Amino acid sequence: MIVFGIESSCDETAAAVVADGCRVLSSVIYSQVPLHQPYGGVVPEIASRSHIEKIRPILEQALAEAFPGEPDEAAWAHIDAIAATCGPGLAASLLVGWTAAKGLALALDKPLLPVNHMHAHLWSVRLNHPELENAALYPQLGLAVSGGHTCFVESPEPHHFRLIGQTIDDAAGEAFDKAAKLLGLGYPGGPVIDRLARTWVPAPGERPIPFPRGRVSPEHPLQEGLLPELCVSFSGLKTALLTYARKHPPQTEADAAKLAFSYQEAIVEALALRVEQALKRRAYRSFALGGGVSLNRRLRDRLAAVCAQGGVRFLTAEPGFCGDNAAMIAGLASAGGALRDPDPLARDVDPSLPV
Ligand code: KG4
Ligand code: ZN
Repeated sequence: MIVFGIESSCDETAAAVVADGCRVLSSVIYSQVPLHQPYGGVVPEIASRSHIEKIRPILEQALAEAFPGEPDEAAWAHIDAIAATCGPGLAASLLVGWTAAKGLALALDKPLLPVNHMHAHLWSVRLNHPELENAALYPQLGLAVSGGHTCFVESPEPHHFRLIGQTIDDAAGEAFDKAAKLLGLGYPGGPVIDRLARTWVPAPGERPIPFPRGRVSPEHPLQEGLLPELCVSFSGLKTALLTYARKHPPQTEADAAKLAFSYQEAIVEALALRVEQALKRRAYRSFALGGGVSLNRRLRDRLAAVCAQGGVRFLTAEPGFCGDNAAMIAGLASAGGALRDPDPLARDVDPSLPV
């Protein structure tokens, strides 16, 4: 099955063509980061306006790159269905992609497939990996870490997602972004902190600053199905950073690098501890790491080590498919993982669509 996918849930306008779940024929991403940079975060009104301006050329480019040299009509004839993100995300951003998908499905008389953005992040590990087979990977533990989400998801079988842990306040990416803002390092914070952290060279015996690991008290009220030991809190970490930076303002590059390393380490260890806990619960066959924060080298290495120790196969997306992209949307839909909906044309976007 060949699916044309659209993603517009936040600040990337993206379109892609994917066959059979994993064969990426094209993947085009327009990032709005420079538009939001002056504000230190995504401005929803700017995001939706930019999606409207970019969606058409991005769709055209994704089609042309998938079927080079073919006229539009012939190219569309290869497409079996149109998929798009219908949530979660920013309402006015989601609307642009989802409405474009409805228009294409109607005009081309093709099925319309709604996709949950978080499910797609977990599927992203399969893109360009036809050798990965379901039978060898499930039950699977998934971790989707992005600017908006930190979700531990259990999949007993493909396309079944049970949320078992999440952040009770800030998402991991948000924690990186807020720290960078606080330290005046710019936006988005993850890549800057990642880069700065790598430059830290500890003196013999020197330890990172011991920031908190985001423990959630067993008494904390949680929605049904969530396990406190797999939940995490990042708001205390941000306060700890602020308090530390006020007391010991970084004077040199080395001070800043140590601070960045220590803060990153706290996020990485908080997530690694939860993954360790989760792997003890059940005999998972694989662990899938997706989302923009999975670009973090330290996080990848640490979680790969946790999985190696637990005897669980570690999967993560190629760099181009870690952040928001449409290949993960088209890929999941072409593998049969879109949301079941008897009347997708009547469906509206859902900014807080649950996992
Ligand atoms: O998945 P994504 O592109 O968009 C959302 O759905 O949110 O994730 C964006 C997030 C931002 O918070 C950004 O700071 C973070 O991913 N990020 C990173 C790195 N690269 C991007 N965080 C840590 N280390 C990185 N190298
Ligand atoms: Zn995302």
